[in-house]
Amino acid sequence: MNILAINGSPNRRGHGARIIEAMLRPAVRAGCRAEVVHIYDKRISGCAACDHCKRSAATECAINDAMQVLYRKIAAADAVVVSTPVYMGHVSGPLKTFLDRWYAFVDGRFKARTLPGKKLAVVVTSGAPAGSYSDVARYLKRWLGDFLKMVPVASIEAGGLKRGSPLDPGVLMKAEKVGRSLARIIDKTPGT
Ligand SMILES: Cc1cc2nc3c(=O)[nH]c(=O)nc-3n(C[C@H](O)[C@H](O)[C@H](O)COP(=O)(O)O)c2cc1C
Repeated sequence: MNILAINGSPNRRGHGARIIEAMLRPAVRAGCRAEVVHIYDKRISGCAACDHCKRSAATECAINDAMQVLYRKIAAADAVVVSTPVYMGHVSGPLKTFLDRWYAFVDGRFKARTLPGKKLAVVVTSGAPAGSYSDVARYLKRWLGDFLKMVPVASIEAGGLKRGSPLDPGVLMKAEKVGRSLARIIDKTPGT
């Protein structure tokens, strides 16, 4: 039972990071292995559009950078948490660059590989009130769910956040609940 959480914020102790932490704590107590990857710490180049991945039989990318290790971590995960702050109305730039490289998870016929069936939880944090950026949460669920065939199981939108401001206890409680249910869901999924 493996959970990989992606923090798409430059703040290692920011709102997204704290929501991820609240989510993972009960999951680890329930027996899951969990790892947090801070995407701003990684050197990830933009997709080169070389189509190497479209000619490859397996999930493969020609660019030799931090993604090579991350592809393996994603492949080994039963559930992936993708967390982003809203930056200028969208996911953060480095998170988008990272997600562009997920193009390798579709084959030459645009059929999803490696990811189908893996569980997905998304976290969106913003300065504007919660719910202002449901389109960002929908974007993540559409592309990682509808297109790449992950199974969205939870979505947390936290808003009204200023740098250093506390998180609403209700948000942290929801994160803990999501962590507990992620652990239950992946425990019941064959092969995890
Ligand atoms: C470059 C930048 C752009 C931002 N753009 C938006 C925005 O478009 N809408 C919004 O509501 N908040 C915006 N914010 C505020 C962040 O989304 C908010 O503070 C978020 O909680 C940060 O998450 P973190 O603590 O995990 O880093 C922006 C902040 C920065 C630094």
